[in-house]
Amino acid sequence: MKILVTGATGSVGRLVVDELLALGATDVRALTNNPVKAALPDGVEVVEGYLGRPETLPAALDGVERMYLAPLIRTVHEVCRLAAAAGVRHIVDMAGMKGDHWQAIEDGVEACGVPWTHLEPGEFMPNADIWAGQIASTGMVRDCYGDATNAPIALEDIAAVAARILVDGGHHGRSYELTGPESLSRRERVRLIAEALGREITYVELPRDQAIEQLALVMGEYAEWYVDGQAQLLEHPQRPVPTVAELLGRPATTFAEWARRHVDSFR
Ligand SMILES: NC(=O)c1ccc[n+]([C@@H]2O[C@H](COP(=O)([O-])OP(=O)(O)OC[C@H]3O[C@@H](n4cnc5c(N)ncnc54)[C@H](OP(=O)(O)O)[C@@H]3O)[C@@H](O)[C@H]2O)c1
Repeated sequence: MKILVTGATGSVGRLVVDELLALGATDVRALTNNPVKAALPDGVEVVEGYLGRPETLPAALDGVERMYLAPLIRTVHEVCRLAAAAGVRHIVDMAGMKGDHWQAIEDGVEACGVPWTHLEPGEFMPNADIWAGQIASTGMVRDCYGDATNAPIALEDIAAVAARILVDGGHHGRSYELTGPESLSRRERVRLIAEALGREITYVELPRDQAIEQLALVMGEYAEWYVDGQAQLLEHPQRPVPTVAELLGRPATTFAEWARRHVDSFR
């Protein structure tokens, strides 16, 4: 059974490849712009292409039974039509919370008629990397809405869920909201990074506009959208859901574990 991983060098797709191999999948094809640079693991069939260049997909989809679909809205309808035409029998896509920016991914997948499973992660734990430069250079985090609370998820957990479903099959027509195991405010996340580093980090609350200016240095045009999303969490904190643990039979990664594992990013 051939499984295609699109966005196979991306932050999630690359982990999906690893998780598939760990589960014993033996026929994994990875899609990348640059097969040489990609340095994918031995045993993975690497093909040249990109979701943003749909003309590269018929060759990549040939013989594929199941696929992981990375989130690229611009071409999703065309990509999914090509997957249906190629005889793909299951698409596991990563979108986001229902009704948010990533809804277009689910719409495109559902329109093509191939059985699907939607993965709907909330905020990613590595979004905390937006603080890395400040922490390393000043020992402070200047941010806003420090009490905004959600349940961020580790990319490893999203990838593990995707791989589990791709290997096991089934789960057709199911949407899985995916979160980390606990709700945390932004201040609490900074505290957990400080614990992982073994030193103090001062959290400084900024007014909205200054926070957008600060964040634009690392997030560019998305800074305003991101900051205003945090404001909404003040009124509607996100609660954790048990989906990751239920699907994987192990607890979801905590933020403290994630921070310890990725502590070098903050040094
Ligand atoms: N809840 C959330 O926060 C949420 C939910 C869903 C999605 N997302 C977003 O989903 C994305 C997931 O990241 P990801 O790294 O796994 O996947 P990705 O951004 O889709 O990138 C996957 C691969 O596509 C290629 N690529 C990306 N942009 C390109 C471009 N402009 N031109 C040519 N090739 C391009 C690169 O492959 P090569 O190495 O082969 O060049 C890249 O490694 C993030 O942007 C994240 O913000 C977030």
